[in-house]
Parts: sequence; structure tokens; C-alpha cells
Amino acid sequence: MRDLPIGVFDSGVGGLTVLRTLMAALPLENTVYLGDTARVPYGTRSHDVVTRYALLSGRYLAAQRIKLLVIACNTVSAHSLPALAAALPIPVLGVIEPGARSAAARTRGGTIVVLGTPSTIASGAYQKALGRLSPLSRLVSRACPLFVPLAEEGWVDGEVPRLVAERYLGDLRRSGADTVLLGCTHYPLLSRAIAEVMGPQVALVDSAEATAEAALRLLAGRSLLRAGPAKAVHRTLCTDLPDRFRGVAERFLGRPIGTVELVDLV
Ligand code: DGL
Repeated sequence: MRDLPIGVFDSGVGGLTVLRTLMAALPLENTVYLGDTARVPYGTRSHDVVTRYALLSGRYLAAQRIKLLVIACNTVSAHSLPALAAALPIPVLGVIEPGARSAAARTRGGTIVVLGTPSTIASGAYQKALGRLSPLSRLVSRACPLFVPLAEEGWVDGEVPRLVAERYLGDLRRSGADTVLLGCTHYPLLSRAIAEVMGPQVALVDSAEATAEAALRLLAGRSLLRAGPAKAVHRTLCTDLPDRFRGVAERFLGRPIGTVELVDLV
């Protein structure tokens, strides 16, 4: 059981920012990553459609025999965590609670700005978690859909992302914000542009680090941490265009990704 991989699931490449942190925090763990590139983006879809897609991917990964499923997608975590947890015979971890905890720990009494896809923001999941974890904080949430294609295109520095960030966030400079929660897997790649617009007094937090810590605690608590000695094995699966996936993925993961297997979920 300890040698079974951790399954990591996202709508596409974005979740690799979470996988990257997970691999650094748990270097002995085998992983299998599934990016549902045939159906991406999820962030503009409805609750029911996101959950239907999430169940397809979750069941596929569970059938690969995994010991834990990490939902490395904010949109899926926001809408479909209960449905996945009920449908799968393994523990399921999302990124909303860990991300909200990071923001709650970081704020010093200022406004917390939550950024995410339209679907994540509409779900109210971060707002609800932060209302519980940081009840005295003022919250502002904002959907920034164009950040996703910019990150995928590699346009993460310079004039274009800066202008887009200014358009989405410029009015928040005077909101008293001290913390910006990057509530979408792609947004950490645009950290520089977001930080330039929001100013140096604002801390940017994302859920990757806290999610990796939660995975570590969960596996340790169930005596499921892998001890080695063989090197960890990492598989990467996607549902469409594996060559494009590989190119973009290396930028998100920060290292070569090797073979990308094309799979069909239905
Ligand atoms: N992975 C998604 C998220 O974190 C962003 C990409 C998409 O819209 O599918 O919300």
C-alpha cells in the first residue's frame, strides 16, 4: 500500500504547480498525474459539468490503484470534493482548505483578495472557508479568466500580463489588501505581474505548499508514507494532445517531464 502512487488530478497542466511542490515535499512518493486536456478549461463551466468531469477523472485514477487523490485544481476542489470523496474508496484532498489556511495565517488584519476562475469564485468555496478561518477579515474576490491562457501561452512577464493584471486588479490597490490568495493553479506563474499591480506590501499565497503539507500529514497519520529505497516513479497522463501538454508542462513543472501517456476516460 505504501508503494502505491499518489494520484494528482487537474483539468490540464496547471496542477503541475501543485505536483512540483508535492514532489519536493515528498520526494520518495510515486505519483501519477492526470491532466484532462480534452475537457479543459473547467473554470468557465457549471457545478454539474465540473463534477461530472471530475468523477470521470477521479474514477480513472482510482482504478490505477492510488493511495491518495490530490485534487490539484481549484475549480474541482471548489465544486466536487464531496462528490469525489463519496465516490472513491481512497482519501481525497482538495486545495481550497489548505489555500484558505495559508491566507488566514498570512494576513495581518488587512483585506484578503481571492483570485480564481469564474467557476471557483461563483462557488463561494474560498469565501466560505475564509469566513470560518479568518472571520474578522474583509474579503474581496475576483475572477481573472484571462490569466489561464496567458500562463499556458507562456506570456507570464512583460507588458501583456501586466496590462491584464492592471485591468483585473488595479482598483484593488486601494482596498487595504495585505494578502492575495492565488486560487487557481495557473496564477502562481503570473505572480510577478500580480505583485507589480498590487504593490510590495501585499503577500501572495497559493495552496501548493499547504496542500503538500496536508498530504504529508494525511499519509503519515495512516502510516502510508513510502520509505524507498527505489527511486520514486512519476507517470504523467493526459486526455488529448500529449505533445502540446509536454511543452507547456515543462514550464509549469520546472523540469523535463518525460513520456506523456494519452488516455481515454470513457
Ligand atoms: N486548474 C484550474 C483551476 O485551478 C484552472 C484551469 C481551468 O479553468 O480548467 O481552477
